Amino acid sequence: MEELFPGVFTRKGNIFTKNLIPGEKVYGEKLVSEEGIEYRQWDLFRSKLSASLKNGLEVMPIKEGSTVLYLGAAEGTTISHVSDIVGPTGLIFGVDVSARVMRKFIGISEQRENVVPIIADANKPWTYKDYLEGKTIDVLFQDVAQQNQAQIFLKNAEYFLKTGAAGMLVIKAKSISQDSNVANVFSKEIAKLSESFTPKQIVNLKPFEKDHVMVHCEKL
Ligand SMILES: C[S@@+](CC[C@H](N)C(=O)[O-])C[C@H]1O[C@@H](n2cnc3c(N)ncnc32)[C@H](O)[C@@H]1O
Repeated sequence: MEELFPGVFTRKGNIFTKNLIPGEKVYGEKLVSEEGIEYRQWDLFRSKLSASLKNGLEVMPIKEGSTVLYLGAAEGTTISHVSDIVGPTGLIFGVDVSARVMRKFIGISEQRENVVPIIADANKPWTYKDYLEGKTIDVLFQDVAQQNQAQIFLKNAEYFLKTGAAGMLVIKAKSISQDSNVANVFSKEIAKLSESFTPKQIVNLKPFEKDHVMVHCEKL
């Protein structure tokens, strides 16, 4: 196992995290033990964060001890790996609007003490700001596949991010426009961020996700 970033490992082209709850799988992923340490294989087709790591993300802002606000938690597939990375000293607030998809995620949060599920609409950060009171958010991560993706991201950044904090935004072109020129859709959406963020890197997620990019940016 080779360490790609602190808490993120690679072997034979696959990506892994150290299992915070040894012996437990979250979504049927493969468990691999090496020198007494158990790792969980991070499915590249089921997580845009692992796809961006595979496709050359140069800086990984999520690390041990990070506090992360994660919008679009869904069933918690990606969050479970983020939970492995931030470890017991980190914290993840996972927001999703759908109580149905959150059911599985709530089960995960019962096992993983560094995960806090919040059922809320990310368009309305004021409805969950009390949960985050007194916390400094190191990373705002968003994967909501909505038409107003940049707007939701900017709104949450305004509420919760200090200057220098990291942003990681997944842009899904087809949720924004049916324009066949997806490069155009990406650049228009990224331009909207410029009032509050400096873009650091844009990683295309193909072949794992079609017409998606991950934008790593820094709050101004
Ligand atoms: C593509 S899925 C996220 C997958 C997840 N990030 C992962 O990798 O495991 C998008 C999620 O965003 C949620 N979502 C959509 N609009 C939202 C909103 N306004 N507020 C919060 N969550 C929203 C959906 O319910 C859905 O679960």
